[in-house]
Amino acid sequence: MKRVKPMKASGLSIKPTVLKLGGSVITHKDKPLKANLPAIRRLAEEIAEAKIPQLIVVHGGGSFGHTMAKEYAIKEGFRGEASQLLGFTKTHQAMITLNNMVLETLIQHNIPVMAIAPSSFIISKSDRIANMTYKPLKRLLDIGAVPLLYGDAVLDSDKGFTILSGDQLVASLAIYFDARRIVVSIDEDGLFTADPKKPGRPDFISKCTLRKLRKLQRQIKSTNTCDVTGGMQGKISELIPAIEAGIPTLIVNGTISRRIYKALKGEKVTGTLIQKE
Ligand SMILES: Nc1ncnc2c1ncn2[C@@H]1O[C@H](COP(=O)(O)OP(=O)(O)OP(=O)(O)O)[C@@H](O)[C@H]1O
Ligand SMILES: [Mg+2]
Repeated sequence: MKRVKPMKASGLSIKPTVLKLGGSVITHKDKPLKANLPAIRRLAEEIAEAKIPQLIVVHGGGSFGHTMAKEYAIKEGFRGEASQLLGFTKTHQAMITLNNMVLETLIQHNIPVMAIAPSSFIISKSDRIANMTYKPLKRLLDIGAVPLLYGDAVLDSDKGFTILSGDQLVASLAIYFDARRIVVSIDEDGLFTADPKKPGRPDFISKCTLRKLRKLQRQIKSTNTCDVTGGMQGKISELIPAIEAGIPTLIVNGTISRRIYKALKGEKVTGTLIQKE
């Protein structure tokens, strides 16, 4: 494996779009190991209809990955206990189970998708992607296939193992392939001044610059206890490098019909558009 510097490779004739299917959309985050199959089917329909020429799909862990990762403290690293090692494999297995549902549904909708396990080609160092080969992904895009990745339990050169979030993957792939746009789906309309699930009436942010986002980042607390990768606060930190690289990023509500379709097509849609300036 080759060490990859954070640089743009591209070489693709059309800039790709990177789509994140939030675990909060494709699973019931409050019910362990419960996928939201009707949502996955509808999203597959929207992706198929949008017919984006170069597309990379990444999905989150939802009540599959996060539940297992929390139970076995995978994000804390390997403590040398056999039970935790088994937990590492179980967390990866839970992600494969969820990934299979997404994969099968996308294929049923004639999307030429190829699933790649991040743990099979990425090694992190203190939670950050350090060793990774982009070649299979580039080849898949070259032939018009849709690479499908996901947040995963991965090996870490400092910690033994850790959790690599789908959000970190999204930003890293978008930067490397010089993406046209990032579309991140969650179970809310976009970014608010505070968690809309908590008491209070936070303001909705429809447009946001990097400067404003950095301000918000300090304000937004990590409120989601079941998300081991930091919920919305973690998501913002991961997305910032891609926005710094000039990639427009749209956060939309994937639980509402047509939002992802419109976001993929670049049509006007309710959501939060984050741009560098
Ligand atoms: N300021 C905010 N604006 C919008 N949502 C917020 C905010 N603060 C916290 N949230 C919460 O963030 C959640 C989405 O992030 P979360 O990490 O839980 O989902 P996800 O990324 O889709 O899941 P996964 O990590 O499994 O892919 C929403 O359900 C919302 O309640
Ligand atoms: Mg998350």
